[in-house]
Amino acid sequence: MTTTLITGANKGIGFETARRLIAAGHTVYIGSRDPGRGRRAADALGARLVVLDVTDDASVAAAVREIEAEGGLDVLVNNAGIETRTADNGVPGAADVTPGMVRELFETNVFGVVRVTHAFLPLLRRSAAPVVVNVSSGLGSLAQMSDPGTPGYRYPGLEYPASKAAVNMITVQYAKAFPQMRINAADPGFTKTDLNGGTGTQTVEEGAEVIVRLAQLGPDGPTGGCFAADGPVPW
Ligand SMILES: NC(=O)c1ccc[n+]([C@@H]2O[C@H](COP(=O)([O-])OP(=O)(O)OC[C@H]3O[C@@H](n4cnc5c(N)ncnc54)[C@H](OP(=O)(O)O)[C@@H]3O)[C@@H](O)[C@H]2O)c1
Repeated sequence: MTTTLITGANKGIGFETARRLIAAGHTVYIGSRDPGRGRRAADALGARLVVLDVTDDASVAAAVREIEAEGGLDVLVNNAGIETRTADNGVPGAADVTPGMVRELFETNVFGVVRVTHAFLPLLRRSAAPVVVNVSSGLGSLAQMSDPGTPGYRYPGLEYPASKAAVNMITVQYAKAFPQMRINAADPGFTKTDLNGGTGTQTVEEGAEVIVRLAQLGPDGPTGGCFAADGPVPW
């Protein structure tokens, strides 16, 4: 039996990933910072609920204790993420981004990944087949963002792509540090969720595809890469 925690799984791509992994036989913990939203999501899917705010040490420590007491963890999906949006649902351009905006976004998208991964490492190390999936983005690819031929090239923001580039490097370094684990980054693609005010062009089913696949990797699968549904994403 595989036990999986998905952070920020009360809606969006994380919720759909939970639905698919439950269908594949995983016991899934929906991580949600809000108990009410999390309870509704968990009940809708037949998942377990763990209240977990990725920006809060005490919340993450309590989640570790709860999951440890209930048997441990095999798969961690670091999915919780935010994107800065303007009042009219645009993305602030580089000139308007302040250090405070970068710090706030990194607290969730980057420090949150390290906080949760670091806290769950002891449980993952006890698993026979530990897997970590860090939900990144094509916008975190330096190669794609420097190429005028890619869809993300014209994205005007600064802190969100920088946070996902950091997630990619964190993935590489964790993967080298823990060769017994499969640790990869996933690029879901531009997906219609609240994150982008519903402007994404893919469904959550399409967005969750690569995350679901990476979450089910066996010990012979790749590690230390970034993958989209159609294959590896260049750094
Ligand atoms: N949508 C896209 O086009 C796209 C593309 C590439 C990558 N991604 C990535 O995919 C992941 C999921 O995004 P999504 O599109 O599904 O967005 P979403 O629908 O807005 O879902 C984001 C989830 O993260 C949770 N969250 C935010 N801050 C949190 C915190 N401090 N602690 C715990 N949970 C927190 C949210 O919880 P609340 O409900 O409490 O806010 C929500 O459950 C993110 O990492 C995002 O960067 C998305």
